[in-house]
Amino acid sequence: MRILSIETSCDETGVALVDGVKTPGGFGFSVVANALLSQVELHREYGGVYPSLAKREHIKNLPVLLEQVLAAAGAEGAPEKIDAIAVTYGPGLEPALWTGVVFAEELAKKWQKPLFGVNHMEGHLMAALARENSSTESAIEDLQFPLLGLLVSGGHTEFVISPELFSYRIIGETLDDAVGEAFDKVARMLGLPYPGGPEISRLAAEARGRGNASRLPLPRPMLRSNSCDVSFSGLKTAALYALRDIGGAEKLTPKEKAAFAREFEDAVTEVFLMKTRRAMEETGAQTFALGGGVAANAHLRSALSEMVREEFPGTDVRAPKPSAAGDNAIMIAQTALIHLLSSDWTLEGKHPAEPLKAEGNLGLE
Ligand code: KG4
Ligand code: ZN
Repeated sequence: MRILSIETSCDETGVALVDGVKTPGGFGFSVVANALLSQVELHREYGGVYPSLAKREHIKNLPVLLEQVLAAAGAEGAPEKIDAIAVTYGPGLEPALWTGVVFAEELAKKWQKPLFGVNHMEGHLMAALARENSSTESAIEDLQFPLLGLLVSGGHTEFVISPELFSYRIIGETLDDAVGEAFDKVARMLGLPYPGGPEISRLAAEARGRGNASRLPLPRPMLRSNSCDVSFSGLKTAALYALRDIGGAEKLTPKEKAAFAREFEDAVTEVFLMKTRRAMEETGAQTFALGGGVAANAHLRSALSEMVREEFPGTDVRAPKPSAAGDNAIMIAQTALIHLLSSDWTLEGKHPAEPLKAEGNLGLE
């Protein structure tokens, strides 16, 4: 089965053409063509994503990326070879999402294909579960349930328990800022460019390599320690005050700045270690999957994987390859393919004219 997928929930425009098959252990995927265009350079001067700019860029980029994907696919991109279209319907930035949905609706009408709305967070979870066999081949196989997902991105931070495929319940989430947002804001306080996550983790790795600890300690907000909820606004404010008290980030030497980035990354990691341990104990999960843009953070990935492997032996630990952690259209195609190949959704049951209703899935919004 072949899906053309579209992702425009935030500041990446993505279009992909992906094949999926059922395998003895689950599902296999093959990327026929993929195009991803990041708008980060444009949003950088605003220090974050500027919704109306994101919308304008998506409108401009979508036809170009579609053409690229179809050209790269050649004869394999002919409409008669495509079974359906999938588009991210949420959660995300409303004006940005809207451009993808409208574009997908028009394409579905023109090609007379069924259209499916995909939940962005389920997409991140599927990307986390997929194992790469090569640069174009991947598989989601041998899933052990219950499955615990920790989805960490610029807009969301949530622990999701899945007792079986397509059944999800959020058992913990952020009560204020998403963790990616906290990375971005603290990076901004340090005068680092947007998006701040990769910048902080680069500096933190330098400080760790040198063995430099920060002279400005930050708290580990273990909010309501009998729940799996997290909170990052206190940590963000503590960072703000700590920097203000020394007269601003410019008073830090480059090494001290790196040590501060490390302190922040360590604080975030410790919070997730504690909450993940708790979620694993509470749920008896057989699989732990870390997904979302912040899953690209090497320190968080290795700390969480190590802890789960050591303290919960036998758990299947999964995370996306770093290049698949952020927003992309491949994960949207993979999610639609799994629903369709499992007959949870049917090609016949849908019509382009009423595309985005039935999949109000899974409480992940
Ligand atoms: O999932 P994503 O691409 O978009 C949303 O759905 O939000 O996540 C983007 C977020 C940004 O906040 C970015 O700073 C963060 O992921 N991020 C990182 C790293 N790479 C991206 N955060 C920490 N460490 C990283 N290496
Ligand atoms: Zn995302």
